[in-house]
This record gives sequence, structure tokens and C-alpha cells, in this order.
Amino acid sequence: MAVERTLSIIKPDATRRNLTGQINARLEEAGLRIVAQRRVRLTLEQARQFYAVHASRAFFDDLCKFMVSGPVVAQVLEGEDAIARNRDAMGATNPANAADGTIRKAFGESIEANSVHGSDSAETAATEIAFFFSERDIVG
Ligand code: CMP
Repeated sequence: MAVERTLSIIKPDATRRNLTGQINARLEEAGLRIVAQRRVRLTLEQARQFYAVHASRAFFDDLCKFMVSGPVVAQVLEGEDAIARNRDAMGATNPANAADGTIRKAFGESIEANSVHGSDSAETAATEIAFFFSERDIVG
């Protein structure tokens, strides 16, 4: 196992319901350390850039509109196998399919309003972390 960093976003459905602390507690209980964190209001252009890999998908415009509908909390998580560990803690993309004990099962409202985002590979994590943070923002 290797210590990794991954990018997590607490989405507008969760900040609207004041769930940041509860989600952070679950991430910490999963063995992840929050080594950088920033609450931001994305612009539509930033949301479209962040999710550019999904630009051809039917859900892209709605997803971007949703991501600017309220503040998000961007964070860097660090730990052993942080990318897979965070994906396990989040659960399946669609909360209806997420396992018991996962964040999306507990809090997700729909496949779009699914409370959290997490990087899906080491390469994506590096790109996504750099989207929100510079190296000096990250305090391990
Ligand atoms: P996320 O992990 O942030 O990555 C892309 C997001 O697109 C995903 O979570 C979902 O919230 C959203 N999304 C909306 N509709 C779909 C869909 N049909 N399939 C996959 N992701 C979707």
C-alpha cells in the first residue's frame, strides 16, 4: 500500500443541508486525513472545466448547473490507498445502489445530487487536486 492523495468535493446538496461536518467525520473514520479544504462557489465555466471529461454525456449541462447551485467544499484527502479508500467510503455513484454505511447511501438524494465527488484514479487525482489547490495549500 502507498500513501496517496485524492480530491474530494462535498457537493451543493450536502452543503445546503449543513452536512460538511458529518461527511468529514465519515472520511476521517475511514482513515483519511483532510490535508487541505476550501469552501468555494464555482462558476459555470469552472464546473464545465472540472467535469470536461463528461462533456459529451447527456447529463453534463444539468450536472454543471447543479454544481453551481450552492457552495461546494473542495478537499484533499491523504492516506494509505486514499483513492480507493475514499471511493469505498463514498459508495456507488447512484445512492440507490450504494452499500449501507457509505456516504452516498446515508446522504445522497439522487445520482446527480449524490453529496460527494472523489477522484477515480491517480492521474485524475493529480489533475483534480491542481484544479483547486497549490502545493503550499496542502499541509500533510
Ligand atoms: P461524480 O463522481 O461527481 O462524477 C460525475 C457526476 O455526474 C457523478 O458523480 C454524478 O453525480 C453525475 N451524474 C449525473 N447523472 C449521471 C449518470 N447517468 N451517470 C453517471 N453520473 C451521473
